[in-house]
Amino acid sequence: MGLATNRRLRFLSKPYVGPVIVGLLLGITLNIIAAPFVGDTCHNVIPNNGDGENLVKLRETKSVEDAQMKAPNDQDEKMEKTLIFEQAPPPNNQFKVKPKKLFRPRYVSTELGIKEKLFVAAITSPATIDTFGVALNKTVSSHVTQLVFFTQSPPTNPPPGLTLVLIKNQAPSEMPIYILKYIVETYADVFDFFMIITDRTHLRAEKVFDFVSHISVSENIHMGSPEVNTKYCNIEGSVILSQSVMQSISTELDWCLKNPHPTSPSMTLGICVEHASGLPCQDTGGGKTYPYFHVEDFDYDDDIDALRGNPKFNTSIAVYPMPDDIAHYKVHRYFCLLELNQTRQEIDRTKKNIMKMSKMAPAGTSDMSWPLGTPETLHGLSRFDLIRWAYFTETHIYFEDDFTNIRPLIGVHKQDVEAILELAIGNIEKKYTQFQFHSLLNGYRRFDPTRGMEYILDLKLVGKEDVSSRVETRVHLLRPLGKVEILPVPYVTEHRRIDLILPVAADDLKGFATFLEAYRKTCLTNHDNTHLRILFIYKNRTDGDKTDQFALPKSLIDYYQNKHINQTGKISWQAFEFHEPYVSDFVLMDLLTRNYKQSSLLLIGSVGMELTIDFLNRVRMNTIINWQVFFPISFWQFKPNLVYQKFPYPSQVELGAKYGFFNKHSFQHCSFYVSDYLEARKRLSPYDAMQSDLFHMFLRYEKLNVFRAAEPSLRHKWKDVVCDPLAPETVYHNCLAHNSEGLASRSQLATLLFEQTMGSQEHH
Ligand SMILES: *[C@@H]1O[C@H](CO)[C@@H](O)[C@H](O)[C@H]1NC(C)=O
Ligand SMILES: *[C@@H]1O[C@H](CO)[C@@H](O)[C@H](O)[C@H]1NC(C)=O
Ligand SMILES: *[C@@H]1O[C@H](CO)[C@@H](O)[C@H](O)[C@H]1NC(C)=O
Ligand SMILES: *[C@@H]1O[C@H](CO)[C@@H](O)[C@H](O)[C@H]1NC(C)=O
Ligand SMILES: *[C@@H]1O[C@H](CO)[C@@H](O)[C@H](O)[C@H]1NC(C)=O
Repeated sequence: MGLATNRRLRFLSKPYVGPVIVGLLLGITLNIIAAPFVGDTCHNVIPNNGDGENLVKLRETKSVEDAQMKAPNDQDEKMEKTLIFEQAPPPNNQFKVKPKKLFRPRYVSTELGIKEKLFVAAITSPATIDTFGVALNKTVSSHVTQLVFFTQSPPTNPPPGLTLVLIKNQAPSEMPIYILKYIVETYADVFDFFMIITDRTHLRAEKVFDFVSHISVSENIHMGSPEVNTKYCNIEGSVILSQSVMQSISTELDWCLKNPHPTSPSMTLGICVEHASGLPCQDTGGGKTYPYFHVEDFDYDDDIDALRGNPKFNTSIAVYPMPDDIAHYKVHRYFCLLELNQTRQEIDRTKKNIMKMSKMAPAGTSDMSWPLGTPETLHGLSRFDLIRWAYFTETHIYFEDDFTNIRPLIGVHKQDVEAILELAIGNIEKKYTQFQFHSLLNGYRRFDPTRGMEYILDLKLVGKEDVSSRVETRVHLLRPLGKVEILPVPYVTEHRRIDLILPVAADDLKGFATFLEAYRKTCLTNHDNTHLRILFIYKNRTDGDKTDQFALPKSLIDYYQNKHINQTGKISWQAFEFHEPYVSDFVLMDLLTRNYKQSSLLLIGSVGMELTIDFLNRVRMNTIINWQVFFPISFWQFKPNLVYQKFPYPSQVELGAKYGFFNKHSFQHCSFYVSDYLEARKRLSPYDAMQSDLFHMFLRYEKLNVFRAAEPSLRHKWKDVVCDPLAPETVYHNCLAHNSEGLASRSQLATLLFEQTMGSQEHH
């Protein structure tokens, strides 16, 4: 690889594959775990460990309020204490229904008692929630299963997106008891581990999650950062409790309320937990040591250099107390960078390993892909499978596809080439310090669907001092395909009714009978749930016109209606009369949609299209209410007498490069729900309605996805399309482009031209 490696540059070295797989697995796991709590309606299920009975009893009879009433040494004002939960998330298990009989739970995970992992309760206050609270939310909430903030008085302007629970009128030192009570009542059997912190605790949340994930759920855990000379932990340093400890607390809440520490919340919590579970707070548990770090009088900028070398700091997962929210963010940034550095080192190590190992593989190092870790180039089976390289200079791109020879580099393509060039130059000049970039000689790029965009650049360099010395060098670059995102899509079925709309103008009469016959074959005889509505569009009809230009089609419709008398309503027609020189899509659609329910699925067709069940089902799958509209790229037939040598021409459109092309200029076939149309239409100004078409309207409406893809099952017979110069500019240009590409392929046209000129020469 020697020389080649020297010259090759990496464009982006992040190995996305690992995180993607881990993410996927995690996603699936979380999803499985989360499912019962989202969808489970059987709230009255008792977890299969016997303690559940106790929990239920507690909830039924011994609420903290009741206990206070009965407690002899309670003061009157204490009796008035109320526990108010505000803005709490909807509790998943309000025990409204008393368990009488054994239920079979809906999910296996419920029956097996599989729980969510980590619940974090953070103590905050109105004064700090905007700063510390938000910082904590930003750094923690995406990593733990649930983060809930507790405050004693309501903030005037609570930041959005925080789950906030208000605990009113309690002495600050008793706060932890009420938090425990809240957890016991709302979440006790939902989570494996519970963590209590304050908003001054900096958590490396992903590490904490990892940490508790490796502790067996059967362990009794009361873990944190013990204060010197006590058995109790500092809440600021975070306290972790396991579900089993939480269960034992649930029966002792009354005792805890009667025995709070007068000043210290940490002591209150510690006393309570120790009383209930018999466990003092320790910094170890489940065979692991809790890595926390206590900073005193912390100032990030002054202290970080000293802390950087401290292995205890580097490996800690909770750092406390933070002096301000900025410190939160700075510490967060430090650890992110640390993680990044460690990941990079890991990658380097892995790479070296691969290199070392591959020497022993049968094909040796020559078998390795470049860059390491990306999939190999796709090796085509024949010359037709090769991926084409496009040639580019700094200003133009050549032979991008079958239809263009040269095109100026503009827009994103220009930015792409500039970015690539800049990166290559930067790296080359770092390597050859005595040279500088002179010009780009050749550029090639291609898109490999398994790897990403690949580039080869030939660069010319000249000496910085000695201008006469020149070097030409070639670099390879790869812009790998990164994050693979899985898009969740709402569920659809193949049974929906489609309302197929067929506009028919005067020049569509020729293919009309064929279309109707196809409709009979595909939809009527198969009892497909498709209803056809034919729109006859009269233009410039004067009162003097005695003959109806659509008389014949109408009688045909009558014929089919009578023949399929048991499927009434499946064919209907409607006439529209226009006198304007140009009628836009919207005028027709606005009139039409009045006749349909909001939930109707409309498919706009055309005379000349071939109807297949496949295509109709594709429409049902790809059109999703409130989510997606479908604009298939149809396959259009070339002009038959140009591409077929002899009669009779096939009655069906054949799929193949010789017989037609995927017409990316046509947007006339589309499907959408009426409600989506109406919503998008509302946002279109009258001016835009003049300049736009359906496709661009949906494209501009950001709430809907526009799905457009080549659709081999939608084929269209050749048609001489007349382009209307009054149409919006984009529509008109698309129409012209269609006509120029729609006759036959270039080679077919060239052959015909050649034959013709030869023929005429022979005549002479
Ligand atoms: C808090 O976190 C949640 C979940 O990550 C997020 O949706 C919300 O916007 C955050 N709120 C603030 C104020 O950062
Ligand atoms: C802590 O991290 C810094 C930054 O990566 C590193 O320089 C230092 O060696 C690390 N210290 C220990 C003890 O790992
Ligand atoms: C990460 O590495 C970069 C460069 O190697 C260094 O500048 C930075 O200080 C490191 N950061 C941490 C947190 O170790
Ligand atoms: C309709 O009439 C207008 C003017 O009255 C004319 O310009 C146009 O060509 C006519 N269109 C058709 C389809 O006959
Ligand atoms: C009417 O429906 C029945 C069964 O549903 C079918 O057997 C019959 O052929 C249909 N008649 C016509 C005219 O399509």
